[in-house]
Amino acid sequence: MSVADVDRRDEIGAFAAAHGASLAFLQQGDPSLSQELTRLADAGAAQIVLVGVSSGPLAPALSWLRRIAAYWWRERAGSRPEILVATRLLDGPDGFAGATADARPITGGEPGLTSGAWEDVTGHRHQVMLCRGPRCTAKGAVDGVRGMVMAMIEHELGDDDVLLVHTGCQFPCNQAPVISVQPDDVWYGHVDAEVATRIVTEHFVGGVPVQSHRLERK
Ligand code: FES
Repeated sequence: MSVADVDRRDEIGAFAAAHGASLAFLQQGDPSLSQELTRLADAGAAQIVLVGVSSGPLAPALSWLRRIAAYWWRERAGSRPEILVATRLLDGPDGFAGATADARPITGGEPGLTSGAWEDVTGHRHQVMLCRGPRCTAKGAVDGVRGMVMAMIEHELGDDDVLLVHTGCQFPCNQAPVISVQPDDVWYGHVDAEVATRIVTEHFVGGVPVQSHRLERK
């Protein structure tokens, strides 16, 4: 479900394979949910059951699994399989049977992918680039991201205040995990959960960058 779950590809994929299932990603990872649904449908699947897997607070609401699947289902021309969506996230290795047993079918009446609330660019003051390139990911970028999200929740900062954007490599990989803050043009290195929390408190709320982890800008 979340960007962070892409890092768990091997673990979740092995679990899926052990249960006769396949793996797809709601965001950033490949294959996407839509790609995998198309593959299964083209292979002749008559019924597909979707079970969401998530690593905590970084995931979108479970309703998005249903919403994205419904969009694919409506768009699918010709024959299409029945799709059922579990009503709860998989909460552990023993929960697979229970999650699939509670799955409810897509009807086509689910909300679409647009909303009046998503028409305009937000009024954010900061755009924060969170590097999820290979070096930063290997050095624990997800911990900093999680720390930042939790601190933003604590300070009640939303998309209108700080817009978080996951990126590929931003180049100063030796300083991984890296984040950069625009339009301030402030770059940070070695961002763990504690540093991320300080960045939220001191920089975003207090207006003063965290000098101890700031990278020199040439
Ligand atoms: S992988 Fe993050 S800066 Fe290169």
